[in-house]
Amino acid sequence: MPFIPVAKIEDIPVGERKRFDIEGKRITVFNIGGELFAILDTCPHKKTAPLVRGFLDGNAIRCPNHGYRFDLRTGVCDIGERWNTQVFEVKVEAGEILVDAESVETTD
Ligand code: FES
Repeated sequence: MPFIPVAKIEDIPVGERKRFDIEGKRITVFNIGGELFAILDTCPHKKTAPLVRGFLDGNAIRCPNHGYRFDLRTGVCDIGERWNTQVFEVKVEAGEILVDAESVETTD
């Protein structure tokens, strides 16, 4: 699947995050220290909580509901692999953030 432009780099400054609808998926892009990460926004636990409202914990996001922790590089959940989620490739070209809505294989 191709990379799709979603925003200008200045739209997500360091420490910020923003949610997008990309190819029918809700995906949140995080800027952590200048590095970008993209993860499926809907927490896989109860399938209601938006990770865009979660809490950063290193290179991971903690769900705002029950605190499950998801690695932003791999989608791996700290509670168990049945809760692993999808992450996506993200890159910057000519000042634009691009996301590939086909998820990366989750790796433990
Ligand atoms: S809904 Fe996210 S941890 Fe429960």
